Amino acid sequence: MTYRYITTPIYYVNDRPHLGHAYASVHADIMARYLRAAGHQVVLLTGADEHGEKIAKAAMLANEAPRAFAERHARTFEEAWRRLAVEPDLFIRTTAPAHAKVVSNCLTRLFKAGEIYLADYEGLYSVGQERFVTEKELVDGKLPEDKEPPVLRREPNYFFRMEAHRDWVRQLLLDTPDLIQPTQYRNEILKLLEEPIGDLSISRPVDRLDWGIPIPWDAGHVTYVWFDALLSYVSPLGYPEHSTFGDYWPSVRHVIGKDILRTHTLFWLSITHALGIPPYRRLHVSGHLLGSDGRKMSKSLGNGVDPLEAADTYGVDALRYTLIREVSFGFDGIISHAVIEQRLNRDLADNLGNLVARTLAMVIRYRGGSVPAPKVIEASEHALIARASELPGAVLALVEEMKLGRAAERVMEFVTELNGYVASSAPWALAKDSGASDRLDTVLHTLLEGIYSVSNLLSPVMPGKMSELRSLLGVCAAPVWNLRWGEGVKPGSRINEGILFPKRISTDIVERE
Ligand code: MSP
Repeated sequence: MTYRYITTPIYYVNDRPHLGHAYASVHADIMARYLRAAGHQVVLLTGADEHGEKIAKAAMLANEAPRAFAERHARTFEEAWRRLAVEPDLFIRTTAPAHAKVVSNCLTRLFKAGEIYLADYEGLYSVGQERFVTEKELVDGKLPEDKEPPVLRREPNYFFRMEAHRDWVRQLLLDTPDLIQPTQYRNEILKLLEEPIGDLSISRPVDRLDWGIPIPWDAGHVTYVWFDALLSYVSPLGYPEHSTFGDYWPSVRHVIGKDILRTHTLFWLSITHALGIPPYRRLHVSGHLLGSDGRKMSKSLGNGVDPLEAADTYGVDALRYTLIREVSFGFDGIISHAVIEQRLNRDLADNLGNLVARTLAMVIRYRGGSVPAPKVIEASEHALIARASELPGAVLALVEEMKLGRAAERVMEFVTELNGYVASSAPWALAKDSGASDRLDTVLHTLLEGIYSVSNLLSPVMPGKMSELRSLLGVCAAPVWNLRWGEGVKPGSRINEGILFPKRISTDIVERE
């Protein structure tokens, strides 16, 4: 048994989740489900980043205490993940006392080791991104991802000696080409590491911000929100003493968006190095989802698709499928209502749904709804059986590289092949020929068994619909990975009729786009 640990970003809970959040969480969840199916012992972590200026400001605007505000929104996130079939094993809240204890311990250890010092800091601070920024990063006076320009700040801060770890981090990236994926992000960071990265301010004076974990040796300061949040990848595993940490940490993969690449490389790799925590195994960096206007999806632009509304309209499984198929991980891409509807209609209803509907209808019409036993297997069946047996391995290899869209595409190609097999074997003609009864049994069984293997292969992507599919096939059990051909549908058992993916033709899409 091997342990696998996957994390999503720990989201700022200042609003309800948007599709960008759902993109990261759905990817992490699908990867977790595939690895679990393949027999790994998997822990999926997500959570709520509840401290810091951003949350304090949002709470003030809502006329609420930060704790109550963060609590309310953390629950909204938990409910949203349930609705989107994202099933984390751990949900960390940075306000949890056990987490605060780990943060305090780490700070104290680093302070004692001389890794932290106090100094005056003056610089430009982005409240949106919760970090000091450099002039070089600004475009037209502000960070591209911010609405407001950074503010000038001068205050005493505790600093972590990040610069002292720069050479080590750089060497790590050079020695581990697959540490950051896709490689363009690794190259971006390697370039940054050629020049000094400076030390990292890791505290805020309480007279300006008191919503945070206190600096253990100085009541005048609270911990910087990023130092706090990054440690939430280790605290829920019982770091440092618990064996769960030792079991899972060596396999850790973080799933993040490209806007938080620096914090997960410069900050996090130096912090873990200073603490003696081995570096993460892999960083999977996504691009950004864009609205139909081609701009980064955001609430303020109003160009987004609400994930919960989309799940209600198209079904949660069609939404999950679209997210992985439409925008390749690592790249920017557009998701709109029209795009989801097209995926639902073309891939799911016309291709998979149609294969299922016609197969079930033929089994009912020609065999009274009972699964026939296969007879002589010919070349066309051998080809499909060979394809079905190589798919689990091929899919898993792609999943390991976070190429989930490509993995689902491979399975859908098999669905297309099965549709081609329906056409070429023409069961309707066999049904009219009294001498072709054995052949018809073989064809129908092959189709049912092929569909059953599709239900297993796509279960991590569309858990609800694939379980519905298995019950249409009369197999109510949980999905099975790597099942041998012929051990799926049972000859003699009964199948049911039903429509898996009803087609959706909306008239209001043009107006909504
Ligand atoms: N709290 C920090 C993360 C701390 S992790 C220790 C944070 N939170 S966030 O809620 O602002 O963003 C979380 C994730 O959502 C980021 O990975 C970000 O890239 C992602 N997205 C936000 N908007 C996005 C899109 N439009 N498209 C894709 N992902 C985007 O940052």
